[in-house]
Amino acid sequence: MTKHIGILTSGGDSPGLNAAIRGVGKAALDLNMHIVGFRDGFRGLMENRTAPLDGGQLSSILTLGGTILGTSREKPHKMMVGGRPRDMTEVIVANYKANHLDCLVCLGGGGTQKNALRLKQAGLNVVTLPKTIDNDVAMTDTTFGFDTALGIATEAIDRLHSTAHSHHRIIVVEIMGHRAGWLALGAGIAGGADVILIPEIPYDVKSVADAIKRRKRNGKPFSIVAVAEGAVSVDEHKAVQAALAKGKKAKEAAAESPEIVYADRTIKLAEQLQALTDLEARVTILGHLQRGGTPSAADRMLSTRLGTAAAELIHDGQYGVMVAARGEGTEPVELEAVAGQAKIVPVDHPWVASARRVGTNFGD
Ligand code: F6P
Repeated sequence: MTKHIGILTSGGDSPGLNAAIRGVGKAALDLNMHIVGFRDGFRGLMENRTAPLDGGQLSSILTLGGTILGTSREKPHKMMVGGRPRDMTEVIVANYKANHLDCLVCLGGGGTQKNALRLKQAGLNVVTLPKTIDNDVAMTDTTFGFDTALGIATEAIDRLHSTAHSHHRIIVVEIMGHRAGWLALGAGIAGGADVILIPEIPYDVKSVADAIKRRKRNGKPFSIVAVAEGAVSVDEHKAVQAALAKGKKAKEAAAESPEIVYADRTIKLAEQLQALTDLEARVTILGHLQRGGTPSAADRMLSTRLGTAAAELIHDGQYGVMVAARGEGTEPVELEAVAGQAKIVPVDHPWVASARRVGTNFGD
């Protein structure tokens, strides 16, 4: 009997999503399965808004950024309906059945993995792919979107170098990554940032200022500071840890330190550095630029590898897993081992060690 696959993209959009949809779809059709898309993540599945994918829709999307299906951050168990959050899992299960699905493929990051596990627990066959520019999904070597964002952030640092150098300034460049420092770390290393601040290594602003002043004394009166959006000072870190010790949940604990939630945190860091070093400081927030546009060759390859592997697993009847990138290949990993397990940068990671070897300051 022909198998029917549903597919959706959830969470923040990311380069490589369309390449992954194409990978799943083309392989599914090749294996004589039927595929249909759902629009705007779990909301589209709840509202049964479908998008045909078995015509020409899979052609000419390999190089497109964003997602042809649309996305949202909606969760099946907490969806805004009639102005209040409601558990819509039952409706989703009903729509899955109404569409005669044998499996639902969910493309997304950490939140999507958790939502997919909830649907697995509700009795659905699900397979997920790891997508995010943050590279913070557990149990996979990497995620698609990361390589493209890394290239964009690195190019930004390259460009900021020439202006920082010309004006003898500090440029603080804020890089995305949520609570993980992979993107700032990678782009900081590749772009030769003088300081890299990541959430995993709380920083002391005086240590950063000292490093910048040392560079000035050595004839380099300019510095690039690559700061991850989730980076925290030692004091902020202490406040969060104290709140966690009191039994507060991570989100509430983060709110204990207003610096973490206010968008001007990076601007404040630049002001502090300007005051401490007597060098002019400027801020660049890369923001959503890092998520937009054409996926890199590496991301197109990764998305195709993971997407086609997902279709093969479904064809073989293996469900309830995320297709992880493992070396040159792929590996199915039970969703229970992935959901709720963010992959953050180990402080002794080889990337950190090599950055330190070339003199990068981490603010510690
Ligand atoms: O998870 C991807 C990401 O770009 C994070 O790096 C960032 O913190 C977040 O999404 C931004 O979310 P939004 O697009 O909803 O503002």
